[in-house]
Amino acid sequence: MTSQTTHSAEGHNGNYPGKGIGQPVGVAVLGMGTVGTEVLRLISEFSSNLEQRIGGPIDVRGVAVSDLGKRREVLDLFPDIALTDNALELIDRDDIDVVVEVIGGIEYPRQCVLAALKAGKSVVTANKALIAAHADELSDAANEAGVDLYYEAAVAAAIPVVGTLRRSLAGDQIQRISGIVNGTTNYVLDAMASTGMSYDEALAEATRLGYAEADPTADVEGHDAASKAAILASMGFHSRVTYDDVHAEGITNITAEDIEAAKDAGFTIKLLAICERLFDDAGNTTSVAARVHPTLVPNEHPLASVDKSYNAVFVEAEAAGRLMFYGNGAGGAPTASAVLGDLVGAARNKIHGGRAPADNPYAHYPVADFGDVPTRYHIDMSVVDRAGVLADISRRFADAGISISAVRQEEHGDASRLIVVTHMSIERKLAAIVEELATLDDVKVVNSVIRLDADAAE
Ligand code: NDP
Ligand code: HSE
Repeated sequence: MTSQTTHSAEGHNGNYPGKGIGQPVGVAVLGMGTVGTEVLRLISEFSSNLEQRIGGPIDVRGVAVSDLGKRREVLDLFPDIALTDNALELIDRDDIDVVVEVIGGIEYPRQCVLAALKAGKSVVTANKALIAAHADELSDAANEAGVDLYYEAAVAAAIPVVGTLRRSLAGDQIQRISGIVNGTTNYVLDAMASTGMSYDEALAEATRLGYAEADPTADVEGHDAASKAAILASMGFHSRVTYDDVHAEGITNITAEDIEAAKDAGFTIKLLAICERLFDDAGNTTSVAARVHPTLVPNEHPLASVDKSYNAVFVEAEAAGRLMFYGNGAGGAPTASAVLGDLVGAARNKIHGGRAPADNPYAHYPVADFGDVPTRYHIDMSVVDRAGVLADISRRFADAGISISAVRQEEHGDASRLIVVTHMSIERKLAAIVEELATLDDVKVVNSVIRLDADAAE
């Protein structure tokens, strides 16, 4: 590991004067969908309290949307507002101090956020895809201009995990961060397990409730959770982990039968994000890893009872121990709460001067190859019902150096269902044994392969 200091306001003189108490803070809101609408509604509803907390009033001076013709009730609260479909022009206005980006996507928001930062405006964004792909570039631009870049809402919506990592746990050593960070997939898996709703019905409902991304593929394929995992790993391990570094599997292959089988075995299937350190024999961190995949969680584990669109994040820190954060992980109002928290911080700094703590990826740990990551597998196979099959399969695991933790066999006519649960091994070896099993004449079909979370399963 190299240890360099790359912190904060390089290129800036480090002096961040404020506008002065009582001065209005000019705000531009980019996007007025599920989140933007709630941000505007709450700014209006809480305006006098926000003013007291900030030291000056929030003055929303413009909102950018894509379709100027849409009827938007929330605008009745802001009769004088400038509505535009040209976000870049709005950002460029001299009377804008803080830009709130809640459009979504990557390339256009990137242009907008960079333009804002370079023009000396602080930015609040809920956009995990943008941060997970371009944190370095955006953070450099914020440091260069001496302004704030806040993104609490980008991970687990209302749950204050980004600020907690950035401030409250800044003095500790984070070992592992894991949990449920996507509300849509949690809603779908929970509805399928608890009400028997079909996958399609559950996803349509999560979309109707405003939890899903504009393209819900990002949720169900695990991309949204991967972006959040990249952000959490970067912050927790003070290293840069991007979206491309995260191994992501979604829930599209999880069937109602998998959910039933898991239930029968005492597990609940959850889409988990897991960010961890990998160590050498001396206990020194050699690399970090982040992954997202469906995971079997024992029914008695707290994550198993996280239902609907709720999220839960475990942070394990050397001195603090194990912390669990639970709450609303998606939806307009919960996300707007996090955006508003950031807006208060950014606006306060505009009034009083100063900056929030910036990203500091000084540790520069490399990201481990996914094949080297330790995990456990739960393998469900249909096998030929004949003497010696179990012994042959067990021997293959032993030859591969994979230790078996449990085996269960059930008779079904002339076939038999065999479930093998492994102890910890590395991903590469586990994937290879599954490939080998699938080629055996005695294995009719590998029904499912689902990982167990090392911590949750012990
Ligand atoms: P929506 O799709 O509901 O809203 C997007 C908004 O952006 C719409 O108002 C749309 O305009 C506007 N827009 C699109 N293109 C442009 C453009 N070129 N210029 C100006 N405005 C544009 O998204 P959400 O509100 O759900 O999400 C916004 C962001 O917040 C995303 O990054 C998302 O990942 C993040 N987020 C969302 C959460 C949620 O639960 N929904 C939770 C946490 C984060 P128009 O109204 O005219 O179509
Ligand atoms: N689509 C996201 C989710 C929104 O379902 O979790 C919150 O980030």
